[in-house]
Amino acid sequence: MSVGIDEISFYTSNYFLDLRTLAQAQETDPDKYYVGIGQEKMGMAAPDEDIVTMAANAAMPLVETVGSDRIGTMLFATETGIDQSKAAGVYVHRLLGLQPNCRVVELKQACYSATAALQMACALVARQPESKVLVVASDVARYDLGTPGEATQGCGAVAMMITANPRLVEIDPEVGSYTEDVMDFWRPNYRSTALVDGKYSTKIYLKSLKRAWEHFREASPLAFGDFSHFCYHLPFGRMAQKAHQHLAKLNKSPLGSEQLERQIEDSLLYNRAIGNSYTASMYIGLASLLENGRQDLTGRRIGFFSYGSGCVAEFFSGRVVEGYERCLHRDAHWRMLEARQEVSHEEYLELYRYPDPRDGDHLEIPHSTTGRFRLAAISHHKREYVVC
Ligand code: CAA
Repeated sequence: MSVGIDEISFYTSNYFLDLRTLAQAQETDPDKYYVGIGQEKMGMAAPDEDIVTMAANAAMPLVETVGSDRIGTMLFATETGIDQSKAAGVYVHRLLGLQPNCRVVELKQACYSATAALQMACALVARQPESKVLVVASDVARYDLGTPGEATQGCGAVAMMITANPRLVEIDPEVGSYTEDVMDFWRPNYRSTALVDGKYSTKIYLKSLKRAWEHFREASPLAFGDFSHFCYHLPFGRMAQKAHQHLAKLNKSPLGSEQLERQIEDSLLYNRAIGNSYTASMYIGLASLLENGRQDLTGRRIGFFSYGSGCVAEFFSGRVVEGYERCLHRDAHWRMLEARQEVSHEEYLELYRYPDPRDGDHLEIPHSTTGRFRLAAISHHKREYVVC
């Protein structure tokens, strides 16, 4: 019996800022963003959107496939938590009409926690092969205005159904892990934006890749040349390009730069238009690869590198299942991306500065999302979500 990803779907806000607009406002060369960091647009959450509404939107198509009574566990990964105590997934549980015996828990370790959720889900399914575990990862990436991180914001959620004998990707049991207590990126509880030591974070990312890969090689018979494609954590596209060249060099790969680029380029398309979605980003990258791959991926091995600042990293592998292309949501994803509304720099600043009530007053939130779920109000410290 194999275990892995049976279905995958993602969601992002209907608003985006083109990084040319940001560059213009900052009097910067747009190529710094389009070429230098490899990003074109960044998703901006509407005032009535958050990790809960995005997660519910991402997961809805998967729940429609299997039925709301078939899911035994939902694991919710995020680093944009909305409550110190209650798991965001409990709101999603109600919005999706999941059965009361479905357990829900939230996981955190920066951008890595979706991978922890995936691995835990695989273990649960291996123990009870008839069970289905819904893994959801949802985040809003926010940095202070005027900082180098500003151009690498974004928002998005991904949902994956983990089952026995999956229809998309079988996940291999071997993993390579790396943990080190470092301060490259963090967000104290009293802040709504992340703090980051940008250049250091990229160095730690590469160091973690090396160490996780070395650990993976101790556990797995697979070598660099056994992989046809790679999915990396995607804070911005150029980071994946640098990481892949780094890994190829470590392994003395004979592949030239164009061949190396072909191993990752299809995984970068969606993120280039969404921006960083933290926990969700590598798995939106997987959806991008499966849905836009220029070749048949059947039987191909994919290498995954998941990185969460702070830091925990993991390298693992998967094999694409025959018939995978019949189980994708490609058209719906492209329709969603193409229907988004571009915002001006002034509108971006308004969205960025939308007040987050802290004193318990009642706040009605105007309806602006085009998604099926929205945050309608915050009243007496309680978030009120509705189905549109
Ligand atoms: N045309 C083409 N390229 C240009 C250019 C132009 N006009 N101007 C600059 N560039 C290039 C630079 O040469 C540079 O390329 P290299 O990296 O290949 O040298 C690239 O554009 C970026 O330029 P800078 O180094 O000057 O950019 P910066 O210092 O202003 O910001 C950053 C870069 C530090 C990554 C910043 O975006 C940042 O802090 N981002 C947030 C942190 C982050 O994402 N870290 C990633 C690792 S941590 C992680 O992965 C977890 C997570 O999700 C946050």
